[in-house]
Amino acid sequence: MGKANYAIEALRANSGLAQSPEWQAFAQAAQTAELDASTLKVIEAAGLCVDLTMQRQSPALEAAALNLLQARALADARHALFAGDPVNWTEGKPAWHTALRAGRTREQPDGQDADSVCEYSRMTDFVRRVDQTADFSTVLHIGIGGSDWGPRLAIQAFGGPSQRRQIRFVSNIDGHAFHDAIAGLDPRRCLVVVSSKSFTTSETLHNARAAIAWLKQGGVADVSEHLAAVTANAPAARALGVPASQVFKMCDWVGGRYSVWSVAGLSIALTVGADVLIGMRAGAEAMDQHFQQAPFAANAPIQLALAGLVNCSVLGHNSLNIAAYSARLLHLVTYLQQLEMESLGKRVAGDGTAVGVPTAPIIWGMPGTDGQHTFFQWLHQSEDGAPVDFIASLQGHTDSPDAHRLLLANCLAQRQALLRGKCLEQALQDVAHIDDQERALSLAQHMVHPGGRPSTLIVLRQLDPRGLGALLALYEHKVFVQSVVWGINPFDQWGVELGKRLATGIERELAVPVSAGVVDWGHDASTSYWIDRYRGHAQAPRPRHAWVPGMAAHL
Ligand code: F6P
Repeated sequence: MGKANYAIEALRANSGLAQSPEWQAFAQAAQTAELDASTLKVIEAAGLCVDLTMQRQSPALEAAALNLLQARALADARHALFAGDPVNWTEGKPAWHTALRAGRTREQPDGQDADSVCEYSRMTDFVRRVDQTADFSTVLHIGIGGSDWGPRLAIQAFGGPSQRRQIRFVSNIDGHAFHDAIAGLDPRRCLVVVSSKSFTTSETLHNARAAIAWLKQGGVADVSEHLAAVTANAPAARALGVPASQVFKMCDWVGGRYSVWSVAGLSIALTVGADVLIGMRAGAEAMDQHFQQAPFAANAPIQLALAGLVNCSVLGHNSLNIAAYSARLLHLVTYLQQLEMESLGKRVAGDGTAVGVPTAPIIWGMPGTDGQHTFFQWLHQSEDGAPVDFIASLQGHTDSPDAHRLLLANCLAQRQALLRGKCLEQALQDVAHIDDQERALSLAQHMVHPGGRPSTLIVLRQLDPRGLGALLALYEHKVFVQSVVWGINPFDQWGVELGKRLATGIERELAVPVSAGVVDWGHDASTSYWIDRYRGHAQAPRPRHAWVPGMAAHL
């Protein structure tokens, strides 16, 4: 068996984590490790600084972590990822987003050079043509999930009043989303970009058809000229009416949630320029190299992953808060929610048996300082709180140095408060002016912050495309390392299929005309009731099912 095949077999066989001696040693070392921030632990990687000082540390934990990673064959798995081996073993596909970043040198599987496979030049030529003709003042971007979040994130981060054209996004199937997106747009000056790897996603196809109808109604003579598509399913895009010259190919060996590195960046190039994409790819590639070359103990994605394993799988924290101290990273949380939760939200290992330890924390958050006025109370004083990844940059908007200083101060202060907390003695000092001793004590008890809450700080020099690319790749590789330890395949998403299939059947039932009479749908009582209620067949619930005024008196 070749090395690559060996790695795939090892990935598939990476089960039995909870019972393994390496895991048990790791868990034990994690429970006894200190969380006192006495030893600075900062890793520099691809222009980012990852500060893990406020995570549990000890020499025993470091040694146990290295043993664990060796036992889980991380080095082989990483080699398989970068070699383009089918690491998505349930679907027999590579997950070769790293090849998109290293595009300029790497030979692709069919022997073509990277650029002709990834179609970057075709895409940038198209953007140049669009810029030269100046026909389009707006872009309507249609896509969902991985075909939406990357462009939203990057354009929010690097766009603004001076961007070359405005953009509206529509992802949701809700008609309000489509109508809000087109409000005030001139269809004759609008380019519609349909982004869908599969070109079968019902929300995207529905919205694309609505956009075509809108273009036609708006007096556009040749609708096809107003359409571009990004997809791995070119025939479907052609069938919708997109001319071949405006269909850009996504590769089947890149997962949807990694597609921002592909021509799915078309809308980014059209609005904030292809340089943003080039910068993001360069930053991500620098992180790829760091991930491959840095020793495990000084490897930023690996150490970030280990901190997450301690917090989630050993200490039982079931969520991870992301607090980016940047208004321009508004969409980072949603981007990371898909990356982390669609990748790791699974509970069985390669052989189908349970992983046996808690996996995949819920990812949530909001930019700082808004989050401080929303849920930070919970982070500081609830029973368990949650670990936090703070993200900040050393430089901010050049016109507002004072504001940036304040932003950074808040970020540093919040993590210090989470770690240090505030004990009763300190709280009593705050209420020393109250004469009534009993009242002072009771008030002081409300002011106690338990502290001892872990966090990581990730610092960019400044928020630029390179930094954002490195940041996203950092999280991608963190996810990969955790998947290898847990034995999970991070590249499939079976969990979204069942609901999609059921929706198709229910939509058909909702459309059955009232004239068809009462139908036994064979569903549970609630689903059948709501199908009938929508069709106008069911009555409002009888009083015994619903609250009616005065009911409480009879209970
Ligand atoms: O949510 C499931 C999913 O398949 C994601 O993985 C993907 O990013 C999204 O739907 C959109 O898929 P597509 O790009 O094929 O339209």
